[in-house]
Amino acid sequence: MIEYYQPQAGQNLAFADIDLGTPAVNSDTTVTMSVDGVEVTVPAGTSVLRAAALAGIQIPKLCASDNLESFGSCRLCAVQIEGRRGMPASCTTPAEEGMKVTTQNDKLATLRRNIMELYISDHPLDCLTCPANGNCELQDMAGVVGLREVRYGFSGDNHLDAEKDHSNPYFSFDPSKCIVCSRCVRACEEVQGTFALTIQGRGFESKVAAGQNEDFLASDCVSCGACVQTCPTSTLMEKSIIDQGQPDHSVVTTCAYCGVGCSFKAEMKGNQLVRMTPYKGGAANHGHSCVKGRFAFGYATHQDRLTTPMIRDSIDQPWKPVSWEDAIQFAADRIKGIQAKYGRESVGGITSSRCTNEETYLVQKLVRAAFGNNNTDTCARVCHSPTGYGLKTTLGESAGTQTFDSVMESDVIMVIGANPTDAHPVFGSLLRKRLRQGAKLIVADPRHIDLLKTPHLGEAIHLPLRPGTNVALVNAMGHVIVTENLENQAFIQNRCDTALYSKWREFIAQERNSPEASESITGVPAAQVRKAARVYAQKGNSAIYYGLGVTEHSQGSTMVMGIANLAMATGNIGRDGVGVNPLRGQNNVQGSCDMGSFPHELPGYQHVGVDELRKNFEQAWGVDIDNEPGLRIPNMFDAAIEGTFKGLYVQGEDIAQSDPNTQHVQKALSSLECLIVQDLFLNETAKYAHVLLPGSSFLEKDGTFTNAERRISRVRRVMPPVAGKQDWEVTQDLSNALGYPMNYGHPSEIMDEISRLTPTFTGVNYQRLEQLGSIQWPCNDDHPVGTPIMHVEDFPIGKGRFVLTEYVPTEERSTRRFPLLLTTGRILSQYNVGAQTRRTDNQIWHDEDVLELHPHDAEERGIRHGDWVGITSRAGDTVMRAVVSSRMQPGVVYTTFHHPGSGANVITTDNSDWATNCPEYKVTAVQVERVTQPSNWQQRHQEFDQQQRHFLNSTTAETGG
Ligand code: SF4
Ligand code: SF4
Ligand code: SF4
Ligand code: FES
Repeated sequence: MIEYYQPQAGQNLAFADIDLGTPAVNSDTTVTMSVDGVEVTVPAGTSVLRAAALAGIQIPKLCASDNLESFGSCRLCAVQIEGRRGMPASCTTPAEEGMKVTTQNDKLATLRRNIMELYISDHPLDCLTCPANGNCELQDMAGVVGLREVRYGFSGDNHLDAEKDHSNPYFSFDPSKCIVCSRCVRACEEVQGTFALTIQGRGFESKVAAGQNEDFLASDCVSCGACVQTCPTSTLMEKSIIDQGQPDHSVVTTCAYCGVGCSFKAEMKGNQLVRMTPYKGGAANHGHSCVKGRFAFGYATHQDRLTTPMIRDSIDQPWKPVSWEDAIQFAADRIKGIQAKYGRESVGGITSSRCTNEETYLVQKLVRAAFGNNNTDTCARVCHSPTGYGLKTTLGESAGTQTFDSVMESDVIMVIGANPTDAHPVFGSLLRKRLRQGAKLIVADPRHIDLLKTPHLGEAIHLPLRPGTNVALVNAMGHVIVTENLENQAFIQNRCDTALYSKWREFIAQERNSPEASESITGVPAAQVRKAARVYAQKGNSAIYYGLGVTEHSQGSTMVMGIANLAMATGNIGRDGVGVNPLRGQNNVQGSCDMGSFPHELPGYQHVGVDELRKNFEQAWGVDIDNEPGLRIPNMFDAAIEGTFKGLYVQGEDIAQSDPNTQHVQKALSSLECLIVQDLFLNETAKYAHVLLPGSSFLEKDGTFTNAERRISRVRRVMPPVAGKQDWEVTQDLSNALGYPMNYGHPSEIMDEISRLTPTFTGVNYQRLEQLGSIQWPCNDDHPVGTPIMHVEDFPIGKGRFVLTEYVPTEERSTRRFPLLLTTGRILSQYNVGAQTRRTDNQIWHDEDVLELHPHDAEERGIRHGDWVGITSRAGDTVMRAVVSSRMQPGVVYTTFHHPGSGANVITTDNSDWATNCPEYKVTAVQVERVTQPSNWQQRHQEFDQQQRHFLNSTTAETGG
């Protein structure tokens, strides 16, 4: 039985390229019917249109699509059913046992031709010059029904002069071509959940309208493109297709932006990418996308791309363009020289969460085998390292427990410190769909996030806690659960370590953990916390989704364990609809952790200190590996400033912009004798480099990414690398130049090595990925097609382990000098440090970072909307424009970090999580005041930026690049 919400491995691929007309139905019973004499068995409730398509019979259709509920407006899908009168629409007629359907006879043919004739009589007859020519459902259907002539002329009323809307940077709207099928309106509602479109007017006057009859850009439209994709005409059309024409081939690959890991068809014209179409066979996205993955791909061919390797002796010198061989040799000689002078431990590497698993694996292997130390780390240090620590300690595995689709079985959805509609938009849309179906929502966040504004949202509880008080809140919820006996005792007795549970119970039941006692800490009324705890514990399947608002705190790891405690205490682990789900930020941050990027863990989270685990790698790699963990990123910075750490290889990571306390990072980078940066652009880190190695975009290489569901998906090369090499080839060359041989011919060989050395990956290989489409690890003999839901029978550590989660206030508190708390986050249109999205038309939505503050705080300081404000913390100061917003609570201000010149991380401090050193980005005490000029740091940054750009541009001019 085809089942949307309980995906079986590979099933998404079965009909990935066919539109079956109406969505799959979830039913335990089946019915058997015949279509044109062909018998077909389908789940009860399936439409006749879909049943016919499953039997291989395509009934003409226009208003139906298999990602939308049937609508029944065009009547083109009419059929005849034995024993019934008339010609019902097959898209709205459910299949029944014994039904006999005829899809083709003269009467039906005449009806369909008449319908098409009416459509075409109010449609421009410019097919040959229309951008959709050859890829237009209206044109196809005219051909299918055999329409040869139109009896009605254009002399009467028509829509041919309707005004076009070109306001959106990526698609245009030409109402003269619209057949008012409502597919766009329904896609915006049902798939995306934004409700930006309506059909206005009636009969002949009816038309599609965005927002309050505005243009698309001014409306609530978030530019996801679902309407464009579903439009059966060229009314809604990608500008890239209008400009460049229809593609001639396509390749399925994986989005390189966020941790949702959407699958796309990269549609090509020769080597030119003309459209990214979300792939229905993608198990993470089922054919949906957001504005970034679908439209913001222009960065890959942007003129700023680095195309030539470059070297220099010091950062105040211009660059010298050299061959790949010379650049690699220069880098290797420098690293060897530094190690000879300062010791083996004086160099290290940072792997990239943007690069593939195979590339990340190679960088950490290079550090451990060629550098000969464990000084490897990754950006997960600054985002989800507490997830790794917290979930491993409590549940025994460092990853989320569910599939995204699992949320469709949830009755209660608790979102803590995450903003899915902006940061994980495709999952945000799925979540909204479940909320519209009636699931209850609990949001713990200092801000009133957009999820709380979901159209048709049912019961929702917002817990607007003060930044830094997560642990007090989760403890208060735990307190309610145990003191009101809301635990799932059967789960606790069978699945958990009961001695640890008893200790936790005793701790959490103490009055100091009650909602009433915590109210003065969190700022959340006790009654609200009690209500949230009761809903979470009592209303069926409860799932927790959390983000960096949980991890990026001095108690990030404690909070992750507090969340796991709640899930175990209520038995919300190990089945669909429940679980603990970190929403991973970057496309491959899960993978970069899995691949052994951390200084203490080899691939598959195998600790370097455990002899028998380390020996496997030593034998396979033919080297001795240090049994002591190496330096974490913050330790590398400190050691660089102290003078003991001198060389760093950074692949695809802009630490100078993304890491906290920018001035400290800049000082560390300036102290290095050799900084090797491999990246697409001259990013902030690259301005401190001695060796610049051009990186390759996801379109230029083969490999795999692993998303937030542990899903490994293929990345496929669709165009040649602009500088001639894929990133893994560059790492391999560097290793060879350092004297440690690597000889892979293709990333699949690297994956084969990973599988041999990583117990959770033994079943993963490229052939199986081709067969199944994607695989959620663990994938091994016990789980040959992967593991959608974790911890179903037991935990990898046997019994689940409750941990005491004492609330310890952060040292970063508001004071008289710094009376406000700054917290940071993301927005939909930009991504992370913005290196990609700033080089696309997404700039139209967010071309600078701004400071959001509550009207009360603004008024107290005489600040008006749009004023320049200085933001000062004990780490530094910067200047941004103010946005006065009641989304904030008084006392809390908010910004993003997508633009380097805004200096958001100049103000964040180097406070960090006690267990993992994950920085406390989410809590910085600041003062805000009106100013008239940029900060000193911004002025220095601008000068340095101009100098480095000049060095680069003069080099490019010389080489004609
Ligand atoms: S814009 Fe396209 S999808 Fe929307 S109603 Fe018109 S033809 Fe249908
Ligand atoms: S692009 Fe997305 S959000 Fe905008 S109107 Fe279309 S479906 Fe709605
Ligand atoms: S949701 Fe994430 S993975 Fe999907 S298209 Fe958007 S950025 Fe890409
Ligand atoms: S496709 Fe069935 S009525 Fe339009």
